[in-house]
This record gives sequence, structure tokens and C-alpha cells, in this order.
Amino acid sequence: MVKKNILDFAEMKRKREKVTWITAYDFPTASLVEQAGMDMILVGDSVGMVVYGYPGTIPVTMDQMIYHTEAVRRGAPNTFVIGDMPFLSYQKSVEDAITNAGRFYKEAGADAIKLEGGKRVIPQIQGIVNSGMVVVGHIGLTPQSSAQLGGFKAQGNTAEQAMTLLEDAKAIEAAGGSLLLVEGVPPETGKIITEALSIPVYGIGAGPYCDGQVLIVSDMLGIFEIFTPKFVKKYANLADVMRQAFREYVREVREGKFPTPAHCYKMRAGEKEKLEEMLKEIL
Ligand code: KIV
Repeated sequence: MVKKNILDFAEMKRKREKVTWITAYDFPTASLVEQAGMDMILVGDSVGMVVYGYPGTIPVTMDQMIYHTEAVRRGAPNTFVIGDMPFLSYQKSVEDAITNAGRFYKEAGADAIKLEGGKRVIPQIQGIVNSGMVVVGHIGLTPQSSAQLGGFKAQGNTAEQAMTLLEDAKAIEAAGGSLLLVEGVPPETGKIITEALSIPVYGIGAGPYCDGQVLIVSDMLGIFEIFTPKFVKKYANLADVMRQAFREYVREVREGKFPTPAHCYKMRAGEKEKLEEMLKEIL
């Protein structure tokens, strides 16, 4: 499988071919995602909620993001990997933004970085792009500013808000953003943004008209049970599968049914008898 790049994604938009991506945070998941032929992987700061159990994404650090991105890169060497810039890794200054975006490239082998926000992060987007990196914008429901949004709430559901998001989207495109993610908006809003931009626009909870879709892996596999956003489709219920496996293991160990000889290493020929002789001498 050949790794796709931003030219491929632009071409896919022209041909109206949908792009598929998903989040991943570790080596085995990334490897399975690559085997399934996914176009790209986002190492999202959602790791804070679905892996670390934080109530939101705010506590996530750059170091955590780098560890997870490195693991994903190793698991999916031929898939386009996006590193997600965590809270306060880019908001304070353009210099911070370039330095931290660069860490995803230099330390973790990412192919692009994603950051949240519209017009207010344009200088950061320009700085990162001028440094030779690929930027994915993220507008709509932006979890890092959920306190300002009044929680994890749908956005762009009035004509005025939709127009504001469209302005943000156009500003990101003009600043050099190569791809755009729109989260938590009605399909009408997702559609006007997708049609107005020449760069690919992808959706999570933004309806069917976007150029592609992303989901959070733990949501779509049914592992994360704290809450499930309306836009999630569960393609599996791994929580039930895992609970069942854990219960069976506990029962079998307690009942002496595991391990069996099939799970045990063998002594070398003649060594068992030798060991018994040696033990006789000391016991
Ligand atoms: O952090 C994340 O997983 C995200 C999702 C909205 C895709 O940004």
C-alpha cells in the first residue's frame, strides 16, 4: 500500500471520492487500521478522554501526543498520520505553534498537524505552513474551547453561525491550510463549507456531504462507554466482547482451568529428573 499525500486527497475531492479516516492512539490499532485500507489516521487529543480518562482534552500534553503519534507511526508506516496539537501548544504564540508542530514531524514522523480554531489562529497556521508543514484546520465544535461554547454542543445551526463558520473555513484555506475538519454541525452547514472550499473538507458529525468522514476509534468500536455523541455509529460492541473475555479468564484461573499444558513451556529432556535429584540433596 502506497501512502497517500495531500495531492491525492485534493484529487479525491475533484473526483468526488470519499476519504476515510479514524483516530488511533497505539501501535496495534494503527496496524489494523492500515490493514483495513483507511486513507488517514488522526492521533487526536481525544486520547485524553478515551485513553487517559480525563473529562476533556484540556489536560493533554505535547509529550503525551508525541508518544502516541510515535506508536501510531510505527503501526501504520504507509498511512497519512496527523498529529493533533493539544491545548496551549499553539494558542500562545506563532513561535510555540511552529516549535510544537515541528515536534510532531521531527520526533514522531507525522505527515501533518491539526489545530482547532478559525480566524483567531490564522497567524499560527501561516507560520506552520511557511515552515513547510501541512496544516489541517478544525472548526465547528472545537473541544479545546468547549467552555466558551457552553459544552460539547452542536455549532453552526443558525444561518448566521453557518456564515461565520464559512468565513473561518475560507480564512484557513487562504492561510495555506491543506485540509479542513468540521465537527458537530448540521448537514446544511457541512455542505456549504464543503462546496465553497477548494481544499478537502471532512466531517465528524457534519453530515453526508463532506469530502470524507472521521470517527473516534473508541466510539465506533464501542469501547468508550462514558458518553456517545449523536453522530457516532457503533460498528462493533467491543466493550461487551472484552468484558466477557475478562470474566472468562477470571473464572478459568479461579477454577484451575487455565493454564493448561498447551500454555506451558517444556523442561529439556532429562532435566526434570536431574532437578528432582538436586532437590533431594537439599531438602
Ligand atoms: O481529537 C480528536 O479525536 C478530534 C476528533 C474530533 C476527530 O479532533
